[in-house]
Order: sequence, then structure tokens, then C-alpha cells
Amino acid sequence: MERHGHRDTWVLAPMVDQSDLPFRKLVRKYGCTLCFTPMIHAKMLLTHAVYRRKFLIRDDPTDRPLIAQLCGNDAETLIAAARLIEPYCDAIDLNCGCPQMIARRGNYGAFLLESPDALVETVKQLVKGVNVPVCVKVRLVPTSDSLCETPQTDWDASIDLYRRLVREAGIAMLTVHGRTRHHKGPTIGKADWDAVRRVVEELGSEIPILSNGSIDSLEQALECRQVTGVDGIMSSEAILEYPALFAGGERISRVQLAYEYLKLAKEYPPELGGQGSGTKCMRAHIHRFLDGDFEGNNHFRQALIAAKGREDLWDIVDQVAAIQKENGHDVASEKLSWYMRYRNGHADGLSDRHKAERLGSTKSRSQDSDDEVEDVEGCAQCVFDTNNNDGDY
Ligand SMILES: Cc1cc2nc3c(=O)[nH]c(=O)nc-3n(C[C@H](O)[C@H](O)[C@H](O)COP(=O)(O)O)c2cc1C
Repeated sequence: MERHGHRDTWVLAPMVDQSDLPFRKLVRKYGCTLCFTPMIHAKMLLTHAVYRRKFLIRDDPTDRPLIAQLCGNDAETLIAAARLIEPYCDAIDLNCGCPQMIARRGNYGAFLLESPDALVETVKQLVKGVNVPVCVKVRLVPTSDSLCETPQTDWDASIDLYRRLVREAGIAMLTVHGRTRHHKGPTIGKADWDAVRRVVEELGSEIPILSNGSIDSLEQALECRQVTGVDGIMSSEAILEYPALFAGGERISRVQLAYEYLKLAKEYPPELGGQGSGTKCMRAHIHRFLDGDFEGNNHFRQALIAAKGREDLWDIVDQVAAIQKENGHDVASEKLSWYMRYRNGHADGLSDRHKAERLGSTKSRSQDSDDEVEDVEGCAQCVFDTNNNDGDY
């Protein structure tokens, strides 16, 4: 990890409504050395006041280094949005990884990879138009063969595009999520570290490269670094569940992490320059932290859905802590459960409780006033909501 003069770059992924400011503060405390903001919709940042209030990054020197991620496809809009946020971050990232329908409709995310000329031109203009480095988070490019049921990785198209992004457009860093946009939900599969390694072999001497996907522990992060030769490892879902993922050492209890997050959320409300949707965002965090405790205790899930704010969530954590105490809970035995949901043999990728959860969360949707703004631009599906989000971006 010393090719570019820095060591152990452990990275928090961009996650809508989950890489919020209080969460970033928490993961930095536990070993994360670089954070991304959630994806910021460039056009909405420019046109919607409510969205801007939530997404205009706070100027917080303790929240650095910070990379702000934008989504969009039009260079002029991206540049204007980037100019608004560049004083508060160290680089701008373009989302070329989101595989959701909403991204197809809006022509952004992973769909940009399939129009390489347009993408390279857009990024080139973005690089010229902003005052901070520009980087890109990509997936692997799929084969375009429509006869093929599960499109494979088109390696030549992938590396050709990445090469152009580096050499023609001038990006400063590349994050490779080792899956194509077709690898999601039940077919998510293991990220292709071999492909990431090949990208490092081709371009690693020119820019730093991060690997994303299939990291569930510090040991796995170290293995990925070893196998791929990347400059840094990015975690998303696993670090949501265990924010101390990169810390090593003794296991920190999930209840402690939940309390710590809620304290930070009081000081830095996620909906005010924190890049999150208030209660919805906090609720999702508590859900992920305590997933292991909710198993077999469905009333907690119902309480979570009904939670109106931070105090209600704090109460739920208190109750979980009391039950743990009663049962002589052993912190050392805590294991990831949410992250493993597609990986432990359910034919359709979802356990019964996760199905129930999706149904249950429908009720919570209308509770958030900001939803309306997101719906205006059809962005709501990209904002975390267990009802309509399969967790694959
Ligand atoms: C709740 C959630 C929100 C996400 N939002 C974004 C996003 O805003 N931008 C992005 O590039 N990827 C987003 N992703 C994808 C992750 O950054 C990451 O690429 C993906 O989860 C694979 O990494 P993992 O195997 O460590 O989970 C999101 C993932 C989750 C679970």
C-alpha cells in the first residue's frame, strides 16, 4: 500500500442516506482514513433548496479527507454542482456504478459506462472545469450480447474505458467495484478481485486505485489488498453493520456503536448538511447495527419502523442493551448478519425476515417530508429505503 506514498487507505463507500456526516465521524474514529459522501444528484443540488440544505457539505475540518460523489451525465450541470461543493471536499467523484432502474431512466451511474465516448468527454470537461481532483467509481463493463442470459464482463471494453478515463480525461483516482451492473440482488456473487488486479497491473503506476466489493472484515481487506495490489480498500454494506470494521483489535459491541452514532447524530443532524434524510437515515443505521439482535425479535423491527426520531431510536437501543444484559450476551460472538443475506444460500437471496422487513417498511415511507422533494426528480428510489432498495448500487 505504499506505491503512491501512503499506507493503509481504508475507505467508507459513497452510500445514499448512509455515508452521512455522523456516520463518517464514527467510522473515522474506528480506523477509516478516507470517506466519500453519499451520491449527490447534480441537477437537484442546483435546483432544489431542500435538497441543497441537506447535501451542501458542512465545512468541517475533522471530516477530511472527503470525496464528494456526484451523479449526472451533463458536463455543464456537473461542473456547476461541483463548484458549489468543491470548497468543502478534497475531490469530486463521478458515480459510474449505480445499476438501479432509476439510474437507467436518468442515464447516470453504471449506464454511463456503456457510452464510453460520451463518458470520457464529460469527465474530461469536468476535470477541466473544477479546482479539485476528479475521480470515478466504476463497475466492470458487461458484454452487450443480448442472447447471453447473464452478461459477462467485457474485459477489453472495461480496461479500454478505464485507460481513456486516466489518459484522455485525466482522472486522479479510480475505484473499481469488481462486478457488472447485472451482479445484484440474488445474483450478486463475489466481486472479481482478479479483474481489479488486472486494472492495477495496467494503470496502477499512473493513478491510485481502490477496490470495492466483497469485504466483510479487516482480514479480508488485507487479503484483497494483497491479491489486487490496490492502494486502498472501500467497504460499504459490511462497514454499515460494523463501523469498526477497519479498526482491528477487540470487537466493539454493536450496542456501543449504536449509542455512539446516535450521540453524533444529535450533534450533527444528518438532514442538515449531513447528507442524510433525518429519521429515515438514523433508522436505517440502527437497523443495520442491530440486525443480529433483531433476529427472532420482530417487535424491535416494528418499533424501528414506528420510530419518529432519535429519542425513539435511543429507547430501542436501551431495550436491546437490557436484553443482552439479561442473556449474558457475549460481544466477542457478534458476527455480520445483514451483509451475509445474499451469501448464505437463500434461493431468492432474501431470508423470510428480510422479506417481512421490506413489507413492513412500506409503512414508514410517507413519514419523511423530504421524500416529496426526491420524488419530484424521481430520485426517491436511490435514497435508502428497505422497501424499494435492494442495496445494490
Ligand atoms: C445503502 C447503500 C447505498 C449506496 N449508495 C451508493 C451511492 O450513493 N453511490 C455509489 O457509488 N454506490 C452506492 N452504493 C454501493 C456501494 O458504494 C458499493 O459499491 C456496493 O455496496 C458494493 O460494496 P460492498 O460489497 O462493500 O457492499 C450503495 C450501497 C448501499 C448498501
